[in-house]
Amino acid sequence: MSDAYLQLDKLTLAYGDTVAVKDLDLTIEKGELVALLGPSGCGKTTTMRSIAGLLNPASGRITLDGADITRVSANKRNVGLVFQSYALFPHLTVYENVAFGLRLKGINGRELDDRVTASIKSVGLASFAARKPGELSGGQQQRVALARSMVMEPKVLLLDEPLSNLDARLRLEMRAELQRVQKETGVTMIFVTHDQIEALALADRIVVMLDGGIEQIGTPEDIYNKPVSAFVADFVGFENVFALENGKLATSNSLVELSAPAPQAAKGLAWRPRMVILGSGPFQGTVRGTSFAGNVREYLLDTPLGPIKAEVDAAEPSHAIGATLAFDLPLAAAAPLSRYR
Ligand SMILES: Nc1ncnc2c1ncn2[C@@H]1O[C@H](COP(=O)(O)OP(=O)(O)OP(=O)(O)O)[C@@H](O)[C@H]1O
Ligand SMILES: [Mg+2]
Repeated sequence: MSDAYLQLDKLTLAYGDTVAVKDLDLTIEKGELVALLGPSGCGKTTTMRSIAGLLNPASGRITLDGADITRVSANKRNVGLVFQSYALFPHLTVYENVAFGLRLKGINGRELDDRVTASIKSVGLASFAARKPGELSGGQQQRVALARSMVMEPKVLLLDEPLSNLDARLRLEMRAELQRVQKETGVTMIFVTHDQIEALALADRIVVMLDGGIEQIGTPEDIYNKPVSAFVADFVGFENVFALENGKLATSNSLVELSAPAPQAAKGLAWRPRMVILGSGPFQGTVRGTSFAGNVREYLLDTPLGPIKAEVDAAEPSHAIGATLAFDLPLAAAAPLSRYR
C-alpha cells in the first residue's frame, strides 16, 4: 500500500444502472487542499458522497490514513461533510450548533467547552456564540457550518460548493477564511466547485473532472498554463482551441499551416484571447463583435479558421464592427494539447 493519506483506487460509482463515476484513481496527501472542478453532472458530488460513506462503490477501494474504509459506515469514518445547504439548527445558538456533534459522541464538560470555543474562534465568530442562526448573515452561518464540522477533528473535510449561495463579496471573504483555517489546522480538505477562479485561488492541487472521469490533475499553475486537453483548455479560458492534423490546424473546412511546424506530439493547440496578435500576421478576419471590459477590449472575429476571440489593451485604437484586420496565432504562445476531443 502506498503512503498516501487518502487514496481512491479504480473507484466506480453508480446509481442503479447509471454509472456516474468510472475507474477513478486519486491520491491526496495529508494536509492538502484539493479542489474538484468540473461542469454540472461530471460526478463531483458523487465522488464526495462515496468518500463520506453515503454511497457504496460499485467497485474499487478507498483507503484513509492506512485503513481500507471502502465498507466502513459513514459515522465511523471520521470524515466531515459541509454541503451547500448547511442546515443549522435554527432553535440552537451558535455555540450549541457547534457543540451538537461532540455531545452526541459523549464529550462533555471542560473538553467540550474548550473545543467548541476554539472552533468558534477559529472562524472568527467568538462574539456571536450566543446568537441563533436567524440572527446571522449568510457568510456567518456558513462559518458556523464550517466550525461545526471542524470541531469533530475530521481526518478529511469535504466541502461541496459551500460558497455557492453567498454573494460575490462574501464569497471572496469566505474563500480567504477557508484557506486560513485550513492552513492553521492542517486539516485535509477536498473542495468542490464549478468556478475555476475559486479553484485556482484556493487549492494546492486541482482535479478537473469530466463525464465521471479525471481530465487532469495539477497545481493551479499547471492547470491554468498547461492544460492537457481541449476541454481543460477551454474551461480555463483558452477560447481559441484547434485540433492538429499533420502539424496543421484543423479548421472546419481546411488544414491551415502555421508560420512554423507545430510540436510533434501535440494533438491540438490553444490560445487565450490575449495571446492573439491583432493588426499584423498572416491571417485576416472581420470584426463581428467588440466589447469594452475596463482595461481590455475584446473582439470576436469571423475568419477562415472559424470564429477567433482576441483581447487587446483598451488603450490601443479600437476597431469598428465590419473592419477587416490582420492577425496572428503565434506558435510560441500556444498551449500544446496532448489530447483533443
Ligand atoms: N440519486 C441519483 N440517482 C440517479 N442518478 C444520479 C443521482 N445523483 C446524481 N446522479 C447522476 O450522476 C451524475 C453525476 O452527478 P453529480 O451529482 O455527482 O454531479 P456534480 O458534478 O456534483 O454536478 P453539479 O455541479 O451539478 O452539482 C449525473 O449524471 C447525475 O444525473
Ligand atoms: Mg454537485
